[in-house]
Amino acid sequence: MWLASVDGAIGPVEEARIPVADDGVLRGDGAFEVLRVYGGRPFALDDHFARLGRTCAGLRLHAELDALRVEALALLDRAGEPESLLRLVVTRGGRRIAIGEPLPARPATARVATVTYAPTRVLNGLKTLSYAGNMLAGRLAKEQGADEALFVTPHGRVLEGPTWTFFWVRAGRLHTPPLSDGILESITRARLLEELDVTEAPCTLDDVRTAEEAFIASSVREVMPIAAVDAIALPHAPGAVTAAAHEAFKRRVERELATPAAA
Ligand SMILES: Cc1ncc(COP(=O)(O)O)c(C=O)c1O
Repeated sequence: MWLASVDGAIGPVEEARIPVADDGVLRGDGAFEVLRVYGGRPFALDDHFARLGRTCAGLRLHAELDALRVEALALLDRAGEPESLLRLVVTRGGRRIAIGEPLPARPATARVATVTYAPTRVLNGLKTLSYAGNMLAGRLAKEQGADEALFVTPHGRVLEGPTWTFFWVRAGRLHTPPLSDGILESITRARLLEELDVTEAPCTLDDVRTAEEAFIASSVREVMPIAAVDAIALPHAPGAVTAAAHEAFKRRVERELATPAAA
């Protein structure tokens, strides 16, 4: 049974309730995080709480994040689901929510379709509940026969996916767009930048069309090869650089979880 905690009260997720007048529901006014649980232990919990804190500060939202952390760890203890996701939400109405979720089933590689998108600026870098545009982009991509959306600005700058960071390989070198393009400061991205030789560079559609490999990176997906962008099939999915990135990330996860301070 999947469990949720609302302000510290734990119960079955289907029975968890918050008031309908919460602006988190009415206006998408709130903050969230999703993180991976490996062997029952949350990965990069400090980084996710740090980003949650930055989102709350950006939204001018006061939230009891210390209390949420205690409640989330209590939820994980009770849930006992070794391989899962932990979703953290704080709402404008003051609710603190932690939800245990199953890992989504996904194909081994993703075909992505470009969707025109412009970062909002006022919310850049914040992981807010205002994700309707991100969710819609995924549906638009599926209408085109793809698995996922890839955000591209009206000026042709390739940014990220609705819930993941984009990496591509050209001339054997790994690249990813810079944070200054208005993308989210992904925790997986930061780990990969520490582990591997990655060039942060703006990405155009031509770069994507001539890429040897490309992949999705996120807490939920880790490293997931991209097989095609629109009608262009990438030569390798996964290619050697993507496979090496995934291995390096998995080793990093193991190292961090082996350190008692990690959780
Ligand atoms: C827009 C966006 N970009 C990138 C990511 C990947 O971030 P992380 O690696 O911290 O999971 C996410 C996570 O959900 C996201 O929502």
